[in-house]
Amino acid sequence: MIVVVGIGADGMAGLSGEARAELARAGTIYGSRRQLDLLDESVSAQRREWPSPMLPALRSLPDGVHVLASGDPLLYGVGGTLVRLFGTQNVRVVPHVSSVALACARMGWTVQEWAVSPPGDVDDLNVVAVHYLPDERVASLPDDAFDHDGQITKHGVRALTLATLSARPGELLWDIGAGSGSIAVEWARSASGCAAIAFERDAARRDRIRRNAVAFGVTVEVRGAAPDAFEGAADPSVIFVGGGATQPGLLDACFDRLPGNGRLVANAVTAESEALLVQWYSSVGGELRRYQHYSGEPLGKFTGWRPAMPVTQWAVRKR
Ligand SMILES: C[S@@+](CC[C@H](N)C(=O)[O-])C[C@H]1O[C@@H](n2cnc3c(N)ncnc32)[C@H](O)[C@@H]1O
Repeated sequence: MIVVVGIGADGMAGLSGEARAELARAGTIYGSRRQLDLLDESVSAQRREWPSPMLPALRSLPDGVHVLASGDPLLYGVGGTLVRLFGTQNVRVVPHVSSVALACARMGWTVQEWAVSPPGDVDDLNVVAVHYLPDERVASLPDDAFDHDGQITKHGVRALTLATLSARPGELLWDIGAGSGSIAVEWARSASGCAAIAFERDAARRDRIRRNAVAFGVTVEVRGAAPDAFEGAADPSVIFVGGGATQPGLLDACFDRLPGNGRLVANAVTAESEALLVQWYSSVGGELRRYQHYSGEPLGKFTGWRPAMPVTQWAVRKR
């Protein structure tokens, strides 16, 4: 446990009993020279002045030490940094009066919000703590999480495709025929440092991909039609072909740009694109799979299985 004790400009005289007790039992106290100079002889701990820069020293702070900070250590203070580095369960804060409280006292202002026209159904004395829990799930998103015009790899096939693409941290995906950008977005969310370049020939869909990337806060560079737009793009680690496979020269260009050991996954729903994937599979190997999804839908008073179009998937690693 790291204990952070707040101290004011009036030094030891202004400390609470709890703060004094903490400093009295401390073995080592870290602080700025100005703060350490406020301690009197009742504190026998070793005093360690912060080096400059301070952050590396904070990162390597040993367990069990005390830290001296100005006022309330959690108001723009070192307390917040230590909680971020070590977690709330490993940092205890003994606050002193904050600079905001002192300023309000000087001005005669009340500290709370809602000082002017408080809502009628809230007690005058109240504290609202908002604990924001970001949604860090990386499980496959539902189709309606994306802005799309119907040209989207549907949820089940998208999950299978992402499993085959199997992102590793820092890898760059080329998502060719990106449609809504759902594959590029999910790829970029799936491991740290992953990014994608989306190739899409339709201008309205390119705008949509940009909006979806912004909505999920991921890095997706958006380019025009493949293979022309390959020119000048950063080399991929992995390529996904979700559209345009029958475009003359597209698969050859993909294979040319793929580095040795790079992975390529292509999905086909038409007989023509499937025929092409089978040809490539026969000449360079890899794995060929076919998926068919059914969803239960109302059939009169009963439920029937409605099939989605079968998807043929070819996955290969370049030797
Ligand atoms: C089935 S959609 C892809 C869906 C996409 N994977 C998603 O989840 O949103 C196929 C897309 O490929 C695009 N496309 C077809 N040929 C292309 C080409 N040569 N270059 C870029 N995009 C192309 C089409 O405009 C269409 O948006």
